[in-house]
Amino acid sequence: MGTQEKQAAAALAARLTGEAERLTGLAEPLLCWYDRQVRELPWRESPDPYRVWVSEIMLQQTRIEAVLPYYDRFMKALPDVPALAAADEDTLMKLWEGLGYYSRARNLQKAARLLMERYGGQLPADYGALLTLPGVGEYTAGAVASISFGVPVPAVDGNVLRVLARLTNSREDVMKPAVRRAFTALAAALVPPARPGDYNQAVMELGETVCLPHTEPICTACPLADRCAGRAAGCARELPVRSAPRERRREQRTVLVLVERSERGHARVLLHRREQKGLLSGLWELPGVEGELTEEQALALAAGYGLTAERPVRLPDGRHVFSHVEWVLRGWYAEGTRDPAVLPDGCRWTDTEELRETCALPGAFRTYTRPLPGWLTGPGPGGAAAEGG
Ligand code: ADE
Repeated sequence: MGTQEKQAAAALAARLTGEAERLTGLAEPLLCWYDRQVRELPWRESPDPYRVWVSEIMLQQTRIEAVLPYYDRFMKALPDVPALAAADEDTLMKLWEGLGYYSRARNLQKAARLLMERYGGQLPADYGALLTLPGVGEYTAGAVASISFGVPVPAVDGNVLRVLARLTNSREDVMKPAVRRAFTALAAALVPPARPGDYNQAVMELGETVCLPHTEPICTACPLADRCAGRAAGCARELPVRSAPRERRREQRTVLVLVERSERGHARVLLHRREQKGLLSGLWELPGVEGELTEEQALALAAGYGLTAERPVRLPDGRHVFSHVEWVLRGWYAEGTRDPAVLPDGCRWTDTEELRETCALPGAFRTYTRPLPGWLTGPGPGGAAAEGG
């Protein structure tokens, strides 16, 4: 950090220390509001540390409504740390299929195995110890420590940053680590020792339901409206300020849906396991390559996988946005007969049941995987391929 940045960080820290004094006592109206307002969520039924931990990992980068069905299924299949530690990779990935950011699931399991070795399969009731677990950062350690163990530490996620930036009318760039540190210190000063978990969840909840992002906050429903400097200045909606994120790289890819159909009509699709490193590491995918393959090139590639196919069918284009890359997808469907002597490394031919039960296909391939069960049990796209033309 340069001298100027250091001075700016010190000035912000000093200003927020003053704000912490001004905002003292904010927990009371907030907790009153939370007690009246609290949503019944499955991880709130009991503050069991395992349940809270899994919920907080799932909720990173994913909305509550989207998480709920995954959470219930996950808890039924892997109800505790020993079950998670012992799960096989395909089971774990299948449970996470569609949630995205699959490294979250892998880190959960790494952490579970570590908990088995070091902590008798329990989560430690200590912020610092939680922080040493794979995939557990300050936010998650704070959430688990406060919600499950009553430790008075903050849990600062995007919602909390927004609420604090508005309450203090701060135009500081919350993408800067020094600014986040200053807000974390403010959040720490505001946590009430009696109910830290409820308080942290109340701030998150306020951010999710009242102090809304990208739109006008519903200040009339806010228990903190009378202390909100952003509201008083008429600029709450514009806050927090965030510098532009790095631009995404665009990558053109071609995805192949290669189907072999036996004479009795039993159909299987070719899947390929991705490398153990990088994007979607270790997950099953529809085979594909970079670039825009023509019909002939798609047929040649299919032949390389041992499939002698009729004319391929061009599928709709797809698109998937990851955090740093955007895939622009062209799809080809080819159906034919297969040479059983050819099976390239990392590939498997998979029927609908295996697809449903064991192989997790990431949401990035949704354009092609959503209609896939129908193509395997009925005719291919448009009926054309199944009829050979
Ligand atoms: N977002 C992430 N964790 C949450 C929680 N425990 N309560 C409300 N919103 C959340």
